[in-house]
Amino acid sequence: MAAKDIRQVTPEHVAIIMDGNGRWATRRGMPRLYGHRSGARRVREIVKACPDLGVRYLTLYAFSTENWKRSPMEVDGLMTLFRRYIASETQALLDNGVRVRFIGDRTRLDPKLVAMMQELEQTTACNELLHMTIALNYGARDELTRASVRMADAVRAGKLAPQDITDETISGYLDTADLPDPDLVIRTSGENRVSNFLLWQSAYAEYVFTPVLWPDFDAKAFDEILMSFSARERRFGAVAQ
Ligand code: FPP
Repeated sequence: MAAKDIRQVTPEHVAIIMDGNGRWATRRGMPRLYGHRSGARRVREIVKACPDLGVRYLTLYAFSTENWKRSPMEVDGLMTLFRRYIASETQALLDNGVRVRFIGDRTRLDPKLVAMMQELEQTTACNELLHMTIALNYGARDELTRASVRMADAVRAGKLAPQDITDETISGYLDTADLPDPDLVIRTSGENRVSNFLLWQSAYAEYVFTPVLWPDFDAKAFDEILMSFSARERRFGAVAQ
């Protein structure tokens, strides 16, 4: 099989907008945080499934720059969940060869959580079976704004000439500088929006919107979407051969 065909069969980088935790809980007469906790269990399952399914990069939208508008109780609950996830999952992530990175603006996050994020990044830095990226206080416009400020600083300092700026230069200033662009972006819960997620990086990505709520999104549902991806033809702007 030619290299091009292999890329079409398995997306190397899958990014997921994990949506529907709140509705899932409400339908069960439970508080929204119950849905987020169930969602965290699905994260474990999907991470574990990736190597067998041939996925090398997994990026998860865990908390957006807009999510601060939720009730303080929900925001606090989510932050506690992220801390618990790091504390309880570190060993399993190490055992499973997962390297973890975080993207997003850390300046608004609790310093204790930021320290845990940094430690997890350092502890798992040598792993390469799966590259997992968690988007936390992430928004694509915010990321592009922060990148633009740093580029402007570099121009002012004489380290970057404006005429040398290419799309690779811009990619290199983003939080995802070390990562390939996503091949496939999945959004659960039936909403057909991209919600400020990886806008620059997803220029050529395929999108799949599934009605399944995130806490119901299991390895089988994930596999089915990967199979549907393999049937699509990606032309990257060229004509069909
Ligand atoms: C969107 O569903 C989901 C979130 C804002 C939080 C995502 C967080 C998790 C899945 C928890 C664990 C994550 C990690 C990485 C450990 P929603 O609350 O907007 O659902 P709704 O649209 O039904 O209200």
